[in-house]
Amino acid sequence: MHWNSIATALALSASGADALLRFSCSQLVLDRLDPLVNPGSAPAPHLHQIVGGNAFNITMDPAKPPPTQATCTTCTFADDFSNYWTAVLYFQAKNGSYKRVPLKPNSGFEQAMGGMTIYYTPYIGTKQSVTAFKPGFRMLIGQQGYRTKEEAQRFRQLTYTCLQTIMTRTGETLDMPKSPCPAGIMTNVRFPTCWDGKNLDSPDHTSHVAYPSSGTFENNGPCPATHPVKIPQLFYEVIWDTTKFNDKSLWPASGQPFVWSQGDATGFGNHGDYVFGWKDDALQKAMDTNCNINCPALKTQSIAVGNKCANKARVHEDIDGWLTELPGFSSGDHKEGMRIRK
Ligand SMILES: *[C@@H]1O[C@H](CO)[C@@H](O)[C@H](O)[C@H]1NC(C)=O
Ligand SMILES: *[C@@H]1O[C@H](CO)[C@@H](O)[C@H](O)[C@H]1NC(C)=O
Repeated sequence: MHWNSIATALALSASGADALLRFSCSQLVLDRLDPLVNPGSAPAPHLHQIVGGNAFNITMDPAKPPPTQATCTTCTFADDFSNYWTAVLYFQAKNGSYKRVPLKPNSGFEQAMGGMTIYYTPYIGTKQSVTAFKPGFRMLIGQQGYRTKEEAQRFRQLTYTCLQTIMTRTGETLDMPKSPCPAGIMTNVRFPTCWDGKNLDSPDHTSHVAYPSSGTFENNGPCPATHPVKIPQLFYEVIWDTTKFNDKSLWPASGQPFVWSQGDATGFGNHGDYVFGWKDDALQKAMDTNCNINCPALKTQSIAVGNKCANKARVHEDIDGWLTELPGFSSGDHKEGMRIRK
């Protein structure tokens, strides 16, 4: 039941009205592509998990938004052809080899093929209107090259939850959990909620958006004068099924064994990317309607139908065997990626 599993939103909610969309997007593809940071590069420096519309590609022209290019989506809101992506988690064994950590569907979405849970929240508590993203809009949050807490604090809402059960929604940390998590590790990727009102993108794909100038989105803090337009809070929950690696005798002496596909074992390099792709004004309508989890105003499809939408990986390489290096690392091209992304 969807409404049993919105602990995050409920935990954050003050009193009074809440509105949000919460829905499942199954995996579209695992591929070493990044049309935001490395358009035109196949391979891009590191592996991503991508969900959403099947127009995801090596390059995505902002002048040809996803609804005009896609023929299907992995999301249960059928008019959402957006793309959402994150890095991919690997387990590093004592001998240094890597094995990809599988994804696990969220509570309420058990039939989904891995993927993510996506939220769009217009406000929490006091009713507010928000401006939905415009065609061509894209952004990313986090820096794949960050390795310290000081760096990661720039992004206040990129966190990890060590799942005691699938329903755990407390104890978020900025770094990777240090002890085995009985039900897996959830990464929480919350984007800023204020927009400059002009730019659909920016050179670093981040500076056209901002956090509230004081307080937080959750307590209704105001947007800064530089970024005066309130946008919905976009939020990904991604659950990594780390459970088969929980035996500590498998862990390296150096500490916790999980490492992001860009080579980050600290967790401070958590990042997420977004290309807006809702059809017409479907997202604005949903935000104005104050939908609560589900949204009768929107067209939906079953998870089974979403599971059928898939892209073939464009980069052909082994990502699932026991690997001596992370995908992309033997060629050294991750170094270029570090430079671009930092
Ligand atoms: C990706 O772009 C290429 C052209 O660069 C095109 O041939 C291909 O059909 C596109 N794939 C998808 C899934 O849109
Ligand atoms: C490293 O350890 C893993 C897990 O024990 C094992 O499956 C894999 O074959 C080992 N790799 C090498 C290169 O020895």
